[in-house]
Amino acid sequence: MSVPLILAPMADLSHRALRELIETFSGCDYYYSEMTSAARILSAGAYEKYYLDAGPRPEKLVYQIEGGKEQNLAAAASLLDKTECAGIDINMGCCAPAILRSGAGAAWLFDSEKTKVMISLVRKNVMRHKLSVKLRIGKTDSFENLVSFCTMLQNQGVDIITLHPRTTKEKFRSWVRWEYIGQLKKELHIPVVGNGDITSVEDLCRRSADGSCSAVMAGRLAVRQPWCFAKAVTGTKFAGSKNAPSNLEETALLFLDLLSKYQPAEFYCSRARRFFYYFCGNFMWAEYMRNELNRQEKITEMAETLKKFFKENPQENKPV
Ligand SMILES: Cc1cc2nc3c(=O)[nH]c(=O)nc-3n(C[C@H](O)[C@H](O)[C@H](O)COP(=O)(O)O)c2cc1C
Repeated sequence: MSVPLILAPMADLSHRALRELIETFSGCDYYYSEMTSAARILSAGAYEKYYLDAGPRPEKLVYQIEGGKEQNLAAAASLLDKTECAGIDINMGCCAPAILRSGAGAAWLFDSEKTKVMISLVRKNVMRHKLSVKLRIGKTDSFENLVSFCTMLQNQGVDIITLHPRTTKEKFRSWVRWEYIGQLKKELHIPVVGNGDITSVEDLCRRSADGSCSAVMAGRLAVRQPWCFAKAVTGTKFAGSKNAPSNLEETALLFLDLLSKYQPAEFYCSRARRFFYYFCGNFMWAEYMRNELNRQEKITEMAETLKKFFKENPQENKPV
């Protein structure tokens, strides 16, 4: 495998339990945390310790923070810079209406001058670690605007850029413009991580070998197949190797177990439902199982539902 493989930041998904699960299959090179509000980090709310739990491999963890106020982002980044981690990332890709209204996420793409001031302040507060930015193309698909924005980030001292090459209006619609990643990499002298629509281990291998990006980041695939990074690295010898899960049931139940170890009880169900939305994509009866699991109100009931499903449908309990 020629370039690093990275778990994408995903709200409600890229928490410690998922990272622990991925580590059981020998992990990946870096893990991005789910986005965490800079304001909430500063107010040290009751759940922050879960958002900021860097386990199981703090040295591989990049904290992603979001916020619309430069002072909050700088102060939160400064706190995180004192901890053990691999880096600090600013979210400039999220298009959720509430995030945009607060001036956070992709809203930073809309005002280059304002963003320049913010990044320069954050950079002054991140002295020990890498500072990265994850972004979309912008409001339109103008490559010129993207290059000029990313050059500004580079000039302000950003160390790494991750591009999810869709516009802010596209959300997850339309194809990613992967060619923008390779072209952007040629325009900058800092690493450009490619992200978007890596839907199979074959995609992961292809994109990591084709020279288009400095690293490959996968999101939804890593929830559906938490072993995808190990499989990409191990290749044809993966099946039956010590890094391969025995079957889907074992992986599903292990995830619930890890969730109960590393997350607060209030988060169990919402996070389990989010995980199984993607994990059920492995089943022929995906929609049926999503609905069944969504109806359960405790993760112990989810575990029983899964056991019953696999007992009644042994063909779904595929080795991977
Ligand atoms: C449920 C979900 C939550 C997400 N949350 C975040 C987030 O917190 N921060 C972020 O930068 N991107 C977030 N994203 C976008 C992903 O990081 C990634 O850019 C996107 O899913 C495309 O990659 P993929 O096709 O490999 O999934 C999220 C995506 C999903 C599906």
